[in-house]
Amino acid sequence: MTEALNWWRTATVYQIYVRSFADSNGDGVGDLEGIRSRLDYLRDLGVDAVWLTPFYRSPMVDNGYDVADPRDVDPLFGDLDAFDRLLADAHERGIKVTVDVVPNHTSSQHPWFQAALASPPGSPERARYWFRDGKGDDGEQPPNNWLSCFTGPAWTRVADGQWYLHLFAPEQPDLNWANPEVVADFHKTLRFWLDRGVDGFRIDVAHGMSKPADLPDMDPRAMYNVVEHATYTDPRLNHEGVFELHEGIRRVLDEYPGTAAIGEVWTFDDEQMGQYIAPGRLHLGFNFRLALTDFDADQLRSAIDRSLAVPLRVGAPPTWTLSNHDVWRQVSRYGDGEVGLARARAMALVELALPGVVYLYNGEELGLPNGPLTEEQSTDPGGTSDMQGSRDVARIPLPWSGDEPPFGFTSGSQTWLPMPADWADRTVERQEADRSSTLWLYRDALRLRKSHPAISGDKVSWEDAPSGCFIMRRPGGLACVLNTSDELVDLPAGEVLLTSAQLQGGKLPPNSAAWVV
Ligand code: GLC
Repeated sequence: MTEALNWWRTATVYQIYVRSFADSNGDGVGDLEGIRSRLDYLRDLGVDAVWLTPFYRSPMVDNGYDVADPRDVDPLFGDLDAFDRLLADAHERGIKVTVDVVPNHTSSQHPWFQAALASPPGSPERARYWFRDGKGDDGEQPPNNWLSCFTGPAWTRVADGQWYLHLFAPEQPDLNWANPEVVADFHKTLRFWLDRGVDGFRIDVAHGMSKPADLPDMDPRAMYNVVEHATYTDPRLNHEGVFELHEGIRRVLDEYPGTAAIGEVWTFDDEQMGQYIAPGRLHLGFNFRLALTDFDADQLRSAIDRSLAVPLRVGAPPTWTLSNHDVWRQVSRYGDGEVGLARARAMALVELALPGVVYLYNGEELGLPNGPLTEEQSTDPGGTSDMQGSRDVARIPLPWSGDEPPFGFTSGSQTWLPMPADWADRTVERQEADRSSTLWLYRDALRLRKSHPAISGDKVSWEDAPSGCFIMRRPGGLACVLNTSDELVDLPAGEVLLTSAQLQGGKLPPNSAAWVV
């Protein structure tokens, strides 16, 4: 029983970017019924759970991360009945369903924000957000120097001269979590979905929900340095008041045994990360180190060691992810083309050999690269320096079948982002028919990860390996060998379970990985 309740400690979770997974009604945008029609695909892939990106009522300025009603489904994606059907059918196949929730901000179309705009400064309606007077003689300058994580200042002025805070787009005003009404309403949202039967949540911007009451200036250098961010003062994010908020969320989830929450936590300060996932707080925290590390064995090894140390210390499972809807697809990060794909395949074996929880992003199992997009085609309000331009390049709809766009994604002729014609060889249909495809690599790896006794134990140890390579050993016996060098290398003695590329004369070629027991 306990093991069943602890499913989230070892799960492989598949992120579905709802707009881009599968479309059921021909409008070119993915939806809940589309997902339901593809559940067998997910079962065959072997994932334990899905994470659905926001499908709530929204004006879609940030593709649903601007929520106008968190307790209803946007008509673009279906309705509550469609959600219930999807949940029931997923559960029937043994797939858990976790949903994205967005506590840091609402849409500017949310009734609360509309009421705030219609109410005077100092009113209770404004106290749910961060309204402040500006600086300067006429209050014509923003209250502080905070920058939006997207672009420009984090403040927008309203007609009566006050300013409101938005860490993202102006259409995403930040909620004030010091206001008990905000806390209560979010807990109501959690219960709404828990009562319907969801298995957990992904908490958007979980590191941003609390702000210091006096809103001190930030060091603008913090904007352009994700990994070493902790070196600069940035009161926008990771404020100490946030932990208490996560304790409150945890108490709600504890009323529903077997559910779990993972926070989107952008911090590379190990101490701080440990605080987020300490007992009584978030079950899991996203660890973005792998997604931000180059294809280099030494750097990857140290990223893995650092990523493991924190959760081991506090008793939480480690988490891993190579990509999501906010970053470039790994094939493109690693150099695109054949090399990029080979490296992405190798990294899949590294990631799936690690202890803990793995988050896959839809399409990575097909080896998709970024899609080519012109500026006009991009809908993303959030292209920033650290995201390397529009995030939409990683959000192109999935190719399912056939030889030309829209590749079975939709019965219509248009897709919300254009699909590249040269994805014909990446469709699910083609890859299912090819035992050497990336899809089959993921299927094989996921099957072994779940069933092979050698893939077990909480830790990893490192064995001597040629330069540019590593040999990572799980206590259960699995060795994962990664070759980021330019040479063919020998494998350790044992049975080869799986390789990301064909061995050459028994040796592991560059840009590949192998599992040996
Ligand atoms: C998170 C989401 C991202 C969104 C932002 C604002 O970072 O992952 O897609 O734009 O929050 O909600």
